[in-house]
Amino acid sequence: MHEIKIFCPATIANLNCGFDVMGLCLETIGDEMVIRKVTEKGIKITKITGADLPMETEKNVAGVAGLAIVNAANPDFGFEIEIHKKIKAGSGIGSSSASAAGAVYGINELLGRPYTKHQLVDFAMKGEVIASGSEHADNVAPCLLGGFTLVRGYNPLDVIRIDSPSEIYAVVLHPHIEVKTSDSRAVLSPTIALKEAITQWGNLGGLVSGLYTKDYELIGRSLQDVIIEPLRKQLIPSFDLVKNSALDSGALGAGISGAGPSVFALCKGQASAEKVAYAMSSSYLETGIPFDMHVSKVNDQGVKTI
Ligand code: HSE
Repeated sequence: MHEIKIFCPATIANLNCGFDVMGLCLETIGDEMVIRKVTEKGIKITKITGADLPMETEKNVAGVAGLAIVNAANPDFGFEIEIHKKIKAGSGIGSSSASAAGAVYGINELLGRPYTKHQLVDFAMKGEVIASGSEHADNVAPCLLGGFTLVRGYNPLDVIRIDSPSEIYAVVLHPHIEVKTSDSRAVLSPTIALKEAITQWGNLGGLVSGLYTKDYELIGRSLQDVIIEPLRKQLIPSFDLVKNSALDSGALGAGISGAGPSVFALCKGQASAEKVAYAMSSSYLETGIPFDMHVSKVNDQGVKTI
């Protein structure tokens, strides 16, 4: 195999109670990438469509993640990468992670799969540093593995994949304003109160338990964030309005998707998700800010060859 075309899905990170550790993979939105083997060693970005991103390998998320796996495997050939962006940068649904995960997945396939998908998370994380200034895996892990993922630990990296209960649907409202992950991280406090930490880890345990036992009510009441959301929500115009419209129309829970500005809701069943999407978009029309909506099942496969 000399060339591979891949679908790199969008993801929702944090899921309210799991800042930097929880994430899920979406089905209906993602980028495409083409990766080919070439005789010249190293990595060259040859084409980018749909976004204005750096072509220099060391400045490009896909380039940096790709170099991480190439430097480890050290093949006597190189790779060209084409990136066709559909996920907007700074949208909060894992745009940079899709590129990082796509690069390492595609290169691994062309190398004959020397690494497992779990091992690829480590390489992909190196690309995330370029976008956010920190190595976090809560977007790259679900993008590579599909389903829900929990980063149990970072040192060493320990990622646990959790199957999605079959009726979970995600709704995403993406306001067309850009929030850089680095800016969204800059508003956070480096220390937190014990009282809030107790609430947060109780909810995280509840969410994981609810996913395993398919207890939708438990999932819903665990989708709370008393630490990050209060600080970040001022970056998202009319956040409370859209969140409350999701909850009032039957969402299990709602919050900030990743670093924002997208707002997500989780719902039980497609009919509920469509009702929630309608309510969220109706309320957001009042702001006059353009936006788009996505309704998606959880993608259980993750990044894939097409
Ligand atoms: N966990 C990260 C954050 C995700 O919220 O900053 C951003 O991609």
